[in-house]
Amino acid sequence: MTLSTHNTYPSVEALTIAFAEWLGELVASKDSFSIALSGGRTPIYLFDYLVSHYRDKIDWQKIKFYWGDERCVPPDHTDSNYRAAHEHLLAPLAIPAENIFRIQGEQDPAEEAQRYAQVLRDTLPMTGGIPQVDLVLLGMGADGHTASLFPNRLDLLPSTQICEAVEHPESGQPRVTFTMELINHAQCVAFIVTGADKAEKVRIITRGEKNSKLYPASYVNPRSGQLYWFFDQAAHPQP
Ligand code: 6PG
Repeated sequence: MTLSTHNTYPSVEALTIAFAEWLGELVASKDSFSIALSGGRTPIYLFDYLVSHYRDKIDWQKIKFYWGDERCVPPDHTDSNYRAAHEHLLAPLAIPAENIFRIQGEQDPAEEAQRYAQVLRDTLPMTGGIPQVDLVLLGMGADGHTASLFPNRLDLLPSTQICEAVEHPESGQPRVTFTMELINHAQCVAFIVTGADKAEKVRIITRGEKNSKLYPASYVNPRSGQLYWFFDQAAHPQP
């Protein structure tokens, strides 16, 4: 399956079908595979689709699961990214616990950022002194944030840490997030961005407009060159 950097589909359904096919090929191309899941609402449709259509088409047992960010809440909390993935993907596919590396949102955020960084170092290949994830899956907020890297903390973008503890700019909710350094060190990064509420930032970022550097999602540029955006028509209107 050949992708360009910006891939736009007429619907969330069509996007999900294409993404699942691409993911299947990517996972099949390696003996072991690591993926960092995104949070929020957007990936849930994909998770459900993978369970219903790709249960036997992907060797799920060879995949290690991580998260690009987490809300600092207990794992059974409705805001938990782990909980959403557990309910919609990991439990239905009976992913073995030893392949699931969740961010412990119930812990002290700063300590958890350090602990999770060590988990990544201990369980992923280290290249150039940085853990390397095979695929980092990202979403984007209507404010141009990605993972939990928000526009009010552009000072964090040059961080050489592996993970950082931050706060949501509006709610103040503590978060633990991958840094841009870790994201851009991944073998491959894929965004799934849907909905008209994100179209303005998508336009600014995909066209590299002058104020695009106000938005953390515009700093995602993996050194591998493997960056793919998956949009629905609403998020990235095409003539
Ligand atoms: C999170 C995410 C975040 C998310 C965007 C988009 O924990 O909230 O990781 O970066 O991807 O906020 O969220 P939606 O998919 O809900 O629009």
